[in-house]
Amino acid sequence: MTDQPDLYPVSSEWAQRARMNAAGYAAARTAARETAEAFWGEQARRLDWFETPSKIKDVSFDKADFRIRWFEDGVLNVAHNCLDRHLETRGEATAILWEGDDPAQSGELSYAELHREVCRMANVLKGLGVGKGDRVTIYLPMIPAAAVAMLACARIGAVHSVVFGGFSPDSLSGRIEDCGSRVVITADEGLRGGKRVPLKANVDAALEKAGGAIVDKVLIVSHTNADIPIVEGRDVRYGEAKRGVADDCPCEPMQAEDPLFILYTSGSTGKPKGVLHTTGGYLFWASWTHELVFDYRPGEVFWCTADVGWVTGHSYCVYGPLANGATTLMFEGVPNYPDNSRFWQVVDKHQVEIFYTAPTALRALMREGDGPVKATSRQSLRLLGTVGEPINPEAWRWYHEVVGEGRCPIVDTWWQTETGGILVSPLPGATDLKPGSATKPLPGVELQLVDAEGAVLEGAASGNLCIADSWPGQMRTVWGDHQRFFDTYFSAYPGKYFTGDGCRRDADGYYWITGRVDDVINVSGHRMGTAEVESALVLHEAVAEAAVVGFPHDIKGQGIYAYVTLNAGIEPDKALRKALIAQVRAEIGPIAAPDVIQWAPGLPKTRSGKIMRRILRKIAENDVGALGDTSTLADPTVVDDLIRNRASAA
Ligand code: WT7
Repeated sequence: MTDQPDLYPVSSEWAQRARMNAAGYAAARTAARETAEAFWGEQARRLDWFETPSKIKDVSFDKADFRIRWFEDGVLNVAHNCLDRHLETRGEATAILWEGDDPAQSGELSYAELHREVCRMANVLKGLGVGKGDRVTIYLPMIPAAAVAMLACARIGAVHSVVFGGFSPDSLSGRIEDCGSRVVITADEGLRGGKRVPLKANVDAALEKAGGAIVDKVLIVSHTNADIPIVEGRDVRYGEAKRGVADDCPCEPMQAEDPLFILYTSGSTGKPKGVLHTTGGYLFWASWTHELVFDYRPGEVFWCTADVGWVTGHSYCVYGPLANGATTLMFEGVPNYPDNSRFWQVVDKHQVEIFYTAPTALRALMREGDGPVKATSRQSLRLLGTVGEPINPEAWRWYHEVVGEGRCPIVDTWWQTETGGILVSPLPGATDLKPGSATKPLPGVELQLVDAEGAVLEGAASGNLCIADSWPGQMRTVWGDHQRFFDTYFSAYPGKYFTGDGCRRDADGYYWITGRVDDVINVSGHRMGTAEVESALVLHEAVAEAAVVGFPHDIKGQGIYAYVTLNAGIEPDKALRKALIAQVRAEIGPIAAPDVIQWAPGLPKTRSGKIMRRILRKIAENDVGALGDTSTLADPTVVDDLIRNRASAA
């Protein structure tokens, strides 16, 4: 064990200055629970409504009268809230700071400029016949045009479906087809880590497939000015189209429950689901949580490193920050290009105050040592955040000590595509931090842990993480398959939303996400979070990253199979294997000792950096004929190596 503290109390400075302190948090939780209508009705005033809602909440998770409606009779427009209402007070303030993949390229758009750009794009879309309720697929790099396209759709009431630029033509085609988009917005090319991403060529390939049958217009934004083939009658160059349109466009009045966007996400079965979010509840949640969790103050630069192709990018690159009149930084590149110092160079260059990223990126950077961090100042930083997976305490402490120099609280935010925004997170002025815990639910979020039979567990306990009541940012349906929505999330534990995550609540009421429930291993009747074992492995100085899965074991039921990536320059041997097993035994207990360790030069990850455990499980089970869909892998050769070098129990 280390001698570092397990608890990082709120500093007195934060407790005094923050938007919400411990007393405020307690009061808000009580109000949200006991007088929900009044509480949310009051909070929702942070948005600018054309018609203020009087019906606040109408929810039932029961099968017989299943419904989720928030602010139902309210009327608003998302683009109006993100742009128009700021023009008078901060029209000249920077809305979007853009940092290109190439460090020599950056730019900025004021709120007034962004407003004009969005109006132009909205008018171009109208000219292509797009109207309220129509779906538009957006396949763009991390450039301001991505935010412009999203807001242009919102302005005219069209429903966007953003597809991450790293997805293949096949995936793009399937998503276009599923939601029935007539129009696709793309760019000639994207840039990532110095490499060109052939977006327009991918669209062409996607439209050769099923997606082509319904798409009649492709709108192309110039980014690299690459030479691209143009399909006459179908392809429209945005640069030309926008010359002929007005830079003003009225906002379509939308009912709160009108759809805002669809975002595809993978489940444990079947093809990706089109998660649908609506106008009022979603925007409220993105805006409220952005201000509360990040303690956002006017004038600050907020940087969320996620791509807009993921929900994190929707809520915390675009909608949350812009609804709050913030300056949001959009970064096109990757953490290790041109070198491992890039994140921190960008922080210095744009004087970023709040920085929000994924544990996987931190672990990758940590592996390169402290040098690239220490080469920069980072004095502007005052708050750090993480999202996407449990953060191992070692990476948390590195983030805290090395990146933040012990000065910045870390908000470990738990949420999902389905939740629209953050549900569990420390509030920097209210919550003492425990490395590796997302800590406590936000006001109005009623977490429950249930056992396999659905019985609610009290006090310190481990179970399946459910949510007993709705919150405004909750998804409303699976596009085109409402039954699948109910079955996926509400049938396992009747009357509750089931997150799919396993979780432990400690004696202080802190929540520790252990990973997807299908990632929990049962060893000799003991539940074991794979994240826990991984965390123990990466504590060893030789280890850069580890992924642990279960595999069938004659005696224990399930055994523990660990894939371990070593730090650069370290050669694996028997002694190291022994040392790692000893480390896990010491950290957690003998029960957690891996049965198998396979040295893995790389782990199979999606392009968003999520480890594809399904594949690791199959390899561990020696069932490599049935790897399933590997189309979302960032680097498929990683899998071949793992199969070739499969290890077996000693
Ligand atoms: C799943 C949702 C939320 C936006 C990015 C991912 C895991 C997410 C945390 C966290 C532990 C986390 C959960 C969740 N997860 N954040 N702070 N600590 N686990 O969105 O792709 O919909 O994935 O990510 O397992 O269910 P997503």
